[in-house]
Amino acid sequence: MLPQEFLYQLKQANPIETVMGRYVQLVRAGSLLKCQCPFHSEKTPSCVVYAGTQDPHFYCFGCHAGGDVITFLMKIEGLGYMDAVQTLAQNAGLSVPTEERDNGESKRRTRLLELNRNAAQYYYKQLCGSDKRGLQYLAQRNLDPKIIKKYGLGFAGGEWDGLLRAMKALGYTEDELIASNLCSRSQKGTLFDRFRDRVIFPIFDLRGSVIAFGGRTIDPNGQPKYLNSSDTPVFKKGRNLFSMQFAKKSQSKRLILAEGYMDVIAIHQAGFDNVVASLGTALTADQCRLMRQYAEEVVIAYDSDTAGQNATIKAVNLLRAVGIQPKILRLHDAKDPDEYIKKFGAGRFRLLLEEADDAVQYALERCKDGLDPEAVDGKVTLIEKAISVLASIENEMQRSIYISNLAKEQEVDAQLLTAQVNREIAKRRSREKKQSWQAITSLPLMQDSVNPQAVSHRKEAKAEELILCYLFRHPDDMEVIRERIQPEQFVTELYQRVYREYLNRMPQMQQFSLSIFSDCFHPDEMGRITGIEARYADVDIGENSVLDAIAVLKACDKGQAPADSLSDEDFAALFVKKRIQKNG
Ligand code: UTP
Ligand code: MN
Repeated sequence: MLPQEFLYQLKQANPIETVMGRYVQLVRAGSLLKCQCPFHSEKTPSCVVYAGTQDPHFYCFGCHAGGDVITFLMKIEGLGYMDAVQTLAQNAGLSVPTEERDNGESKRRTRLLELNRNAAQYYYKQLCGSDKRGLQYLAQRNLDPKIIKKYGLGFAGGEWDGLLRAMKALGYTEDELIASNLCSRSQKGTLFDRFRDRVIFPIFDLRGSVIAFGGRTIDPNGQPKYLNSSDTPVFKKGRNLFSMQFAKKSQSKRLILAEGYMDVIAIHQAGFDNVVASLGTALTADQCRLMRQYAEEVVIAYDSDTAGQNATIKAVNLLRAVGIQPKILRLHDAKDPDEYIKKFGAGRFRLLLEEADDAVQYALERCKDGLDPEAVDGKVTLIEKAISVLASIENEMQRSIYISNLAKEQEVDAQLLTAQVNREIAKRRSREKKQSWQAITSLPLMQDSVNPQAVSHRKEAKAEELILCYLFRHPDDMEVIRERIQPEQFVTELYQRVYREYLNRMPQMQQFSLSIFSDCFHPDEMGRITGIEARYADVDIGENSVLDAIAVLKACDKGQAPADSLSDEDFAALFVKKRIQKNG
């Protein structure tokens, strides 16, 4: 664990409200700050920031995300613990104490990043080597040498072990080659290169490290067309965007979102450096949040085929959920941006960008697909579909403009159309209410992926929370409690680990801070731990309730219900009693 003094300085220099303020809009609510939670989509703020306290932290009462400033950065940027610490230290001009930087996990990550960089260099050398097939392929796809170099593109030849031998010669182990996903193990047990006869697209993170690769076959019949690195200790697909390292430096407040590696590079070559793509999978919410940090507007430039259109609709919804109003590029006479630029040039592509539809217009246009608007049937179906689109527009003014435009265009009565749309909106509202009621009543049956045993052991989990919360507040009572209950007697795995770590670490601490957990618990787990403090904030926990809670756990340990088995209501009553005692 990092020295307490350093963590204290780090947090002093990076106030949680300042760091969070870069991602969300904080508003004051009494003595607290609140914001719309950046980790789930919501309309009313349920994320509370406890800033300026002795132990600054945040907690979302909606999705149970929470933790200190380090956890926040880990979660929002998808960073590991040490990387988040490093980033915060850099912001503040502090240096991270060195022995800790060399711990096992981060050493391994550093090795894997070095390996990736060496592999990218190897592939680049191959591209310029005697086997010219890679270079020919890229040239045939209209890529200039300058852009090839800028993206660090490379080539993997036909050998089974070209990269393997080169990397072993540099001292990398088989274990590292497998972990980086550059090599696989055959049934015979020998290693072989995963990328063969492919042009290579290195994938960089925001800091310019090579974190993964994509490889396109140069064989017209080769399968799969693109081979991608799967997740590794240094790469999470859904959290990175191809070409973001360039786009983030772009002057433009707009990002272009394309589907493929080749589209991105072609668009970039045409003079737009503000272009990115998701990596070999559908767009994720994490990627949308990443875009939101750098752009006010996103233009979706997906393929014009059906798959591309469906992906567009999904992307629109995801982007809207993080507060971006996307625009949609409409390609005609080309299947994707790469082909469009090849056919019509960069100038025409710029025009296309200017003409990009907003998402509503796009959805309204889609309503016409496959219909004959001249026939009455066609028109009726079109309008029915359009009503559903119009009913989704939140802004009333915007909605009325679209309604009157459509009424004019389709020559129908605007009042009638308005009435129909309003009826649809009312119908949806009542459906939503029903659904949210269902969500609430079905809550206890839901799975809990962070602390799975808490579902079948609600009472024990509550007892454990109560004990932990008491310990957070009264570190001086640690020994007394330790004598009465052992970590093994905790029922849920997560809280058992929390208790164990607390007992291990507290003796070296001057005072309790949630940060003593942030290097050894996953950000999701940190949310749960922070929730203990946040949810019990208004509850006084006396020694007697702790003793009762201990009894609950001991009874469970012996495989029997406690003699004075407490129901949830009893628990609640207990709190109230204690509070009254203390106050009165
Ligand atoms: P496309 O097939 O549209 O890619 O797939 P593209 O860039 O237009 O391909 P070419 O080179 O011009 O023919 C879009 C994206 O989907 C992922 C890749 O990220 C690709 O860029 N993909 C596609 C895969 O991961 N695997 C595949 O086999 C195909
Ligand atoms: Mn293409």
